Parts: sequence; C-alpha cells; structure tokens
Amino acid sequence: MSAFLATHTRTHSNGALRAGDAGKRVVLTGWVQSYRDHGGCVFIDLRDRDGLTQLVFDPGFHPGAHVVAGDLRNEWCIGITGEVRSRGGKVNDKLPTGAIEVWVDEIEIFSRAETPPFAIEDDVDTNDSLRLKYRYLDLRRPKLQRNLRMRSHITRATRSYLGDHGFLEMETPFMVKYTPGGARNFLVPSRLNPGSFYALAESPQIFKQLLMVAGYERYFQIVRCFRDEDLRNERQPEFTQIDIEMSFVNEQILQTMMEGLMATLWKEVLGVELTLPLRRMSWAEAMDKYGVDKPDLRLDLVLTDVTKPASTSGFGVFEGVVKNGGIVKALRVPKNEKLTRSVLDGLGDFAKSYGVKGVAFVRVLDDGTWQGPIAKNYSEAARTETTQLCKAEPGDTIIFVAEKFKVANTTLGAIRLHIGEKLGLIRKGEWQFMWLTDPPLFEVDEATKEIAAAHHPFTSPRVEDEDKLESNPEQVFARAYDLVLNGVEVGGGSIRIHRSDLQARCFKALQISDEDQQRKFGFLLDAFKYGPPPHGGIAFGLDRLAMLMTGAEYMRDVIAFPKTQKGSDLMTDCPTPVSAKQLAELFVASTYEPKP
Ligand code: AMO
Repeated sequence: MSAFLATHTRTHSNGALRAGDAGKRVVLTGWVQSYRDHGGCVFIDLRDRDGLTQLVFDPGFHPGAHVVAGDLRNEWCIGITGEVRSRGGKVNDKLPTGAIEVWVDEIEIFSRAETPPFAIEDDVDTNDSLRLKYRYLDLRRPKLQRNLRMRSHITRATRSYLGDHGFLEMETPFMVKYTPGGARNFLVPSRLNPGSFYALAESPQIFKQLLMVAGYERYFQIVRCFRDEDLRNERQPEFTQIDIEMSFVNEQILQTMMEGLMATLWKEVLGVELTLPLRRMSWAEAMDKYGVDKPDLRLDLVLTDVTKPASTSGFGVFEGVVKNGGIVKALRVPKNEKLTRSVLDGLGDFAKSYGVKGVAFVRVLDDGTWQGPIAKNYSEAARTETTQLCKAEPGDTIIFVAEKFKVANTTLGAIRLHIGEKLGLIRKGEWQFMWLTDPPLFEVDEATKEIAAAHHPFTSPRVEDEDKLESNPEQVFARAYDLVLNGVEVGGGSIRIHRSDLQARCFKALQISDEDQQRKFGFLLDAFKYGPPPHGGIAFGLDRLAMLMTGAEYMRDVIAFPKTQKGSDLMTDCPTPVSAKQLAELFVASTYEPKP
C-alpha cells in the first residue's frame, strides 16, 4: 500500500467542493488534467470521475509540495492534502468547483504516465482506431465516463423496478445447442466432444420460456447476447439485452408493465416524466404512413399511397409499375425554402442505394397544377386526386417512389427521414415512444415464396387470424410488438404459443418437418407436454436504450470495450489466429493458413 493511503483517507471527490467548504482540510486523489506554472505558483487541475478541482502549489505556503509539483505532467496519478480556499472574485463559472481551490501542503505521486497518444478531453479530434487501441485512456474522458455512469444507473433502476414487481433475476447458459435459423451463431468447439460445437446464445429465448414452464412466472436477466451479423452503428456482435418473460399475461398486461419500466428509467435517470400509456400503432398503419416498422414520430411528414390515381394517370412508368404488382407512394413536404432543387435532384442517388432507379417530384402551383419533370404526363383527374390524397397545398412538394410494396416503402421511408434531417424538421430533444403492434407472423420471400418466421417460430398468431394459417399465411398477423423510440427499435417481443396443436400448425406453415421440429426444438416441444402456462415476453436492447438516453452518436460510446465494425477489439488485438496444434486439440481441421 502506498504510504500516503496508509495514513490518509480521501475526503472528497474532485467534483464535490463548493464555496461553503472554504477553510476545510481535505484529502483528494486523481489524475493531472492540466499544468500551469504562473511564475512561482503551480496550478493543477486534478481530475477524477466526478470532475475537476484546481490545486495551488505555492512556494510560500508549502515549499516542499511546490518542488514536487514542478515535476508533474498530464495523467500522472497523485494524492494530496491541503486547505480549501475561496477564489474570491476569480470564480471559474465553467466548473462546479469553480468557487474554490485547494492549497496543497502534501503530495504523493502514486504513478507517473507517459505522454498519452491523445489529450484526455472531450471533443479532441483523434482518429478512432487510436482511441480504441488506448480504450482505457479514452474511457477517462468525461463524456464516456458520464455515458457509462448513466448506463450503470439504467441497469440499477431496471433491477430495482423489476425486483419490486416480482421478477426473479435468473441466469441462462451462454454455451447452447446450435439451431439453424435466426441470427448467425458464433460456434465454440467442444474439446471433450470431438467434432461437436456449442453455439453462443443469440438470446435466452428458449430458456426463458422453459423457466415459465418450470413455474417461475416472472423472469428477467441483463444478459449478453452473441450474433455473428454484419455490423452497423446500432449493432454489436455481443450486445446486452434486458430480457423479460411473464406468465399468465396478455399484450396489454405485459406492455403496461414495460411502460412502467420505461417511465421509471426516464424519471430516475433523466428526470423526465413520460406520459402513459404510450402510443400504439399497428404495423399496417406504420407501413402506410411512414414506410417502415419503426417510425420516427419526431417528424410530422407522412407518406400516402397514391397507387389508385397513378394507375390511370397516363404516366407510363407509374402505370407499368402498378401493372406489375407494384405500388406508388408519395411524400408531401409542406412549402419549405430549404427544399432546394439540388436537394431534390440528390434524391435519385440517395434512392439508388435502396435499389430504386428513380425518384419523381412535383411542386404544387397556386392554380393547383404541377411543376416538375412528370407534371406534363399526368392527367388532370389523376393530378387532382393525388394532390387531395396527399392533402398538398400550393407551394408544397410531392415526392414519388413507384416500386414493389417493400422497396417503395423502405425507400420513401428513408427519404422522409433524409428530407426531415436536411430541412431541420426532426424535433430533437423529444422522446417519441410507440408500440408497434400486429406485425406479419411470417416473412415470405417475394421471389422464391419461401416462408420464414418473422420473429421466431414460437410467436402466437392473432386469434382472429388462426384460421388463415394454412390458406393464407401472408395475411396472418402476430401477437408481437416492438417498442420504438425516436425511430429506433429498442425492444421486441411477443405472446408465445403454448398450445401444441397451434404450434404444430405454425411449424407446418413454416414447412418445418416433424423430424426437423424434433431435432431443433424437441426439448421445448417435450416441455410443452407438461402443462405450459400462457406466457409472453420482451427483450430491450440495453445498448440502444443507453445510446438514446445519453444522446450518444455511436453505440460504442455506451460500451466500455466495444468491437469495431469488423468485429475486432483493437486494444487486445482480437480475434487472433491460433496454432494448428490448438486446432488439432479441438478437433477442428485447419484449412486456412493464417498470415505469419
Ligand atoms: P430481438 O432479436 O428483437 O428479440 O432483440 C431484442 C432487442 O435487442 C436489440 N438488438 C441489438 N442491439 C445491439 N446489437 C445487436 N446486434 C442487436 N440485435 C438486437 C434491439 C432489439 O429490439 N428473444 C427475442 C425477444 C423476445 O421475443 O422476448 C429477441 O432476442 O434493441
């Protein structure tokens, strides 16, 4: 133990001292944030996770401490004792501790630091790889410390809310049976079972359902999930869920409980009162008005289906798309000077990344006619009906995408956000929650007509749709829901199937053979023979919640040790090749020659 800590106990954090503390003797610890030598006196800003305190080393006050201070450099870790003094008229308004400074009479250097590769300050422009390589230094920055502290607050408040409502925190295995389908799994070879592999759990889904069969009624877990997906800003290969399952509930009961959790988090962590109940919107309405299943309701622009007038408009391109089973969607943008010709012309390139060849647009003139590339092709009747459907007024712009249902909606939905951002129409600072309800139960591939579970195969169909399972699976909607916040899916779940006859029909619709059912899910189907309770659940993406609540731009800013877009950890240099000998011990054939 350091001699200093043998005799001293820290009295305050570096964010704590105020004018009223003047005269106190204090013991502080932390890192040197900055060093200034003002001809005689040395001034140090001492930093810890709570803030900064100004230290004064005055040769007249304590010559010994002043000599030691002369050696200090940024990021050295020190402890001091001293006296709190008022700064009088020289208050630093930028610091909560700006009314005081500490005159030092004893100092101990705990450890010295090499010059860090970048300054430990917010808003320092440093390349991201360097930050990730020296993650422990980047993590010293106030912004990241604030984010991770808020994340800890979120998990603490979650545990307390769920604990108070009778949820048991239970663990489930990470190393699980590999089952095809769903997200791509990471595999772990089993040394003790040559040639066999575990999968890293993509979520505790099946286990939490088994806990319901086992009678635990209310389960939660703040749990790491592993998915070998293509990574984007909102995705990490290992991420954390707040995973929940409840017995004897319907959607309403479960959603109300979850709204309580959100309200608790917003109140305790952000001091914001949410208005409950949260808004609910069906998947069909979301697709119709916003083109996506996670609408950002901070933006008022809406889409309109104008397929009907477009089909007889006289404009060959639109008519052709409709004849081929496509739709025409329109986005009305109320008169706005920022919607310049160059923004509109840029939409073509924007849409190309969605696989759409072209975007059309017109401006509505005072006499109701249109101006723009497609205006002259449009019949008067179609024009009038389209303008009315879109509720467009003179000066407004209407943007069109004609394509197959999914592509048209996705593309115009993305254009809606793009325009909203360009025109500054997204109300930043609002919390726009909504439950997305009743999504399709199945995903049917437009080309191959192959059918897959949209959520997972244990999701209940809506009661009123059960009789369409065999005859018209595309029209079967699910007892599933997502919680959407500001256009981000922060959680998703469903009421599960607990009746074996219904489960068998869903498997049949999914074209999963009896043999495959047994091979993949036999243990769950067996368990369901022993009195399963009706149950349902949800999982929230903790990283996404934390990102939104902290206002972080990147998911990595709320994860202590994140992976890059390529799934690497630059600090520990992971993943790495392993030797052929190691692979042989695991009975994994080495066909790939690692680079030396
Ligand atoms: P789902 O797959 O929708 O549901 O995941 C739930 C929530 O987890 C978050 N999420 C992610 N966050 C970061 N990186 C990722 N790669 C990632 N993937 C998902 C999202 C998402 O809403 N077992 C079901 C839940 C249930 O039915 O109860 C499940 O895992 O915020």
